[in-house]
Amino acid sequence: MALAFFPLFSFLFLLPASSDAQTVGNVTIGASISAAENSSTWISPSGDFAFGFYQLNSNKNLFLLAIWYNKIPDKTLVWYANGDSPAPRGSRLQLTADRGFVLNSPQGEELWKTETWNGVVNSGVLDDNGNLMLLGSNSILWESFKNPADTVLPTQKLDKGVALSSRQSETNFAKGRFRMVLQSDGNLVLTTINLPSDHANEPYYESGTAGDSNSSSPGFQLVFNESGYLFVLRENEERYLLTPRITGSAKDVYYRATLDFDGIFTLYSHPKTSTGNSSWTTVWSEPDNICTASLVNSGSGACGFNSICNLNAERRPICGCPGGYTLVDPNDNYGSCKPNFTQSCEKEPASMEDLYEFEVLTNVDWPLADYALLEPFTEDKCRESCLHDCMCAVAIFRLGDKCWKKKLPLSNGRVDPGLNGGKALLKIRKVDSPPDGPYFPNPGMKKKTNRETLILALSVLLGSSVFFNCILVAAICLGFYFIYQKKLKTLPQNKGVMETNLRSFTYKELVYATNEFKEEIGRGAFGIVYKGALHRNYVFQVAVKRLNTLIHDSDKEFKAEVNAIGQTHHKNLVRLLGFCDEGDNRLLVYEYLSNGSVASFLFGDPRPSWSQRTQIAFGIARGLLYLHEECSTQIIHCDIKPQNILLDEHCNAKISDFGLAKLLLSNQSHTNTLIRGTKGYVAPEWFRNLPITVKVDVYSFGVLLLELTCCRRSVDMESSVEERAILTDWAYDCYCEGTLDALVENDTDALNDRGKVERFVQVAIWCIQEDPSLRPTMRMVTQMLEGVLEVPIPPCPCPYAITA
Ligand SMILES: *[C@@H]1O[C@H](CO)[C@@H](O)[C@H](O)[C@H]1NC(C)=O
Ligand SMILES: *[C@@H]1O[C@H](CO)[C@@H](O)[C@H](O)[C@H]1NC(C)=O
Ligand SMILES: *[C@@H]1O[C@H](CO)[C@@H](O)[C@H](O)[C@H]1NC(C)=O
Ligand SMILES: *[C@@H]1O[C@H](CO)[C@@H](O)[C@H](O)[C@H]1NC(C)=O
Ligand SMILES: *[C@@H]1O[C@H](CO)[C@@H](O)[C@H](O)[C@H]1NC(C)=O
Ligand SMILES: *[C@@H]1O[C@H](CO)[C@@H](O)[C@H](O)[C@H]1NC(C)=O
Repeated sequence: MALAFFPLFSFLFLLPASSDAQTVGNVTIGASISAAENSSTWISPSGDFAFGFYQLNSNKNLFLLAIWYNKIPDKTLVWYANGDSPAPRGSRLQLTADRGFVLNSPQGEELWKTETWNGVVNSGVLDDNGNLMLLGSNSILWESFKNPADTVLPTQKLDKGVALSSRQSETNFAKGRFRMVLQSDGNLVLTTINLPSDHANEPYYESGTAGDSNSSSPGFQLVFNESGYLFVLRENEERYLLTPRITGSAKDVYYRATLDFDGIFTLYSHPKTSTGNSSWTTVWSEPDNICTASLVNSGSGACGFNSICNLNAERRPICGCPGGYTLVDPNDNYGSCKPNFTQSCEKEPASMEDLYEFEVLTNVDWPLADYALLEPFTEDKCRESCLHDCMCAVAIFRLGDKCWKKKLPLSNGRVDPGLNGGKALLKIRKVDSPPDGPYFPNPGMKKKTNRETLILALSVLLGSSVFFNCILVAAICLGFYFIYQKKLKTLPQNKGVMETNLRSFTYKELVYATNEFKEEIGRGAFGIVYKGALHRNYVFQVAVKRLNTLIHDSDKEFKAEVNAIGQTHHKNLVRLLGFCDEGDNRLLVYEYLSNGSVASFLFGDPRPSWSQRTQIAFGIARGLLYLHEECSTQIIHCDIKPQNILLDEHCNAKISDFGLAKLLLSNQSHTNTLIRGTKGYVAPEWFRNLPITVKVDVYSFGVLLLELTCCRRSVDMESSVEERAILTDWAYDCYCEGTLDALVENDTDALNDRGKVERFVQVAIWCIQEDPSLRPTMRMVTQMLEGVLEVPIPPCPCPYAITA
């Protein structure tokens, strides 16, 4: 504890002596301010932050007690005390010795106070980090950093159980529906809560730092450090970094991380010396797609009930009511929708056909609200069944012959291209049908536009992570699929439907997307990669891989393999978005990664840092582990090398080209002499007529791991010292001679982390053993790299026998 206070007190002594203690830094006992336009504020010593009354734009007579950025035109709030009960004009805030800050309305009603139970307050201080503190004689009795609103600031730490709460809207500071908290198990989660209670629903984002008995240590604190990095500090002091590497000096930039009113946790930056109209820019945010990431059993989801969530170009959720439905609260676009008509099970005056019509929404679903599944069923029968069922509000027709009927209120509504063209048949009362109650809906332009926007928006987000976040939905569907599989077997198989989330493109579409294959961005054993762009409501970039003409493959095999690739989903794998299979034209459409490959990163200038290299090594190992052991069909990559590892904008490693070895050469037995790897990374069994197993990837990973550790190519003929030409040999020699420093010379970070360097080299030597059975599995590799598993002394990776 004493340690924690030391910096604070040294800071206090450095405070400039101020002639006006009321306005700078130090707030004395008895000082007060009142809520009015020109009320005085307390300013931090540097002037960066101000504390005082903030007038609400929505009602000029109401004020928030708040802390905001004082030097930039956009006086963004970083903390507020009374979002739920704004203070009327004339309210007064006073600092008292026994009760801390007390906020009273003009009528004397207590609106808010600091909870300080444990001492007498000597003074209040707003420091240059934006932290408002009440100081006792030798301790901090209260601080705004420990009682956050929706924002955390650099140097702030959140202990377990301390939550950020979103506000209700941009301008309404009352408690909103989203919450972020480091749970007692050490996992950082974002959840919706069911207002007005505190009930938290299933998380829509998890950091995965709960820890488990045999590997990682659980999270202990959320830390936002001075340099602008957010990480979960584990109990063993390791860091689980959430945000990307920051370029440039944190001294020139304000950082804040806010749980926005739409549920997205966002790290923003803003230049300190703002010239004119600079603004907050997003550095990082989670989750990628809140619409599909959020799936709750007893709440409304990311949007309100009966609403549909879609992402805009900035990956922010937009909520909208379907046709025939309107907002319950017209001022809350993110709230619930209500039908514009009533439907009851009373006898209707006319036939159902005359009363109701269906609005068809493609790729829209409200998972978890169904009360009946009918199958096998045609779309027409599905409509008819819903039409004559007075409970039915919407029917989902999908997967060729399945019809799910759903009742109100609909929850978790989302647009999800992963639904592969599935239809939502929304039952709405015809506008010119006989009245059935107080409503007599009239047709309006507005309705049409709503509808059109929705339909337009449907297929937009292919390729965003919409795609993978919807796995949960897919899993549910798969569940149904299995339950009814038995029945299905007796039916003719539906040929047209691929059971994945992949989109099938026409050749023409891809010619257009790539501007006639104009910009080549890569070339490999399997084909040429072109940059492309899909134009929907907005443009997003893709990488289109045109496969070399396949040898003896059948249409069925191509589909099966693409299907297997399409079913993979992992942070460290490049996402496949779709494919084209038209005649001889076989193309794969992938997400586009702007940061190039590990090859250009690793061997380029400037050299990547040791921590980036280790992060990349962990990423590749996890990706391979997934391919080998965790996805539904085991995938052997066969061509692991730096050129095949791409980097996203946060420097996360993503393995590309997986699954292609089998796809392109599926009809050849492994005894074929055609070697499928790349020189320098190829395991010896390729030359030896031994079975090809996942261990070939382990070998290549070993070579790559050495390259990452030493930041040089595996074969370097230009090396001035001959014995250094072959990295694997040199590394083993250095290891045996105890001269590992030579491998990372001039790299101070690595030299200061000798333990890890040694561990990495040892693991690599294990990976490049000649005998595949000696090589560890990728699971063991990841555990050894992470230091969970002890690394035994590796034997020499020498050939079994010297071959001529
Ligand atoms: C803050 O105010 C208190 C009370 O007036 C005073 O004792 C203390 O020295 C002040 N601290 C600074 C750093 O000015
Ligand atoms: C500032 O407050 C005083 C009284 O508190 C008032 O007389 C004056 O008009 C106010 N000025 C502005 C610009 O609102
Ligand atoms: C922990 O170890 C056990 C046995 O070795 C294994 O079955 C389990 O999957 C491991 N758990 C995790 C989370 O790795
Ligand atoms: C903040 O954390 C990052 C990531 O762990 C680290 O690189 C950086 O040095 C830290 N900054 C400070 C001031 O501790
Ligand atoms: C600043 O505002 C002007 C006019 O509103 C605009 O033309 C300009 O692009 C803006 N600059 C920046 C950096 O946003
Ligand atoms: C819903 O009904 C209201 C009147 O009750 C009408 O103003 C509005 O246009 C209707 N909206 C739709 C989408 O039908």
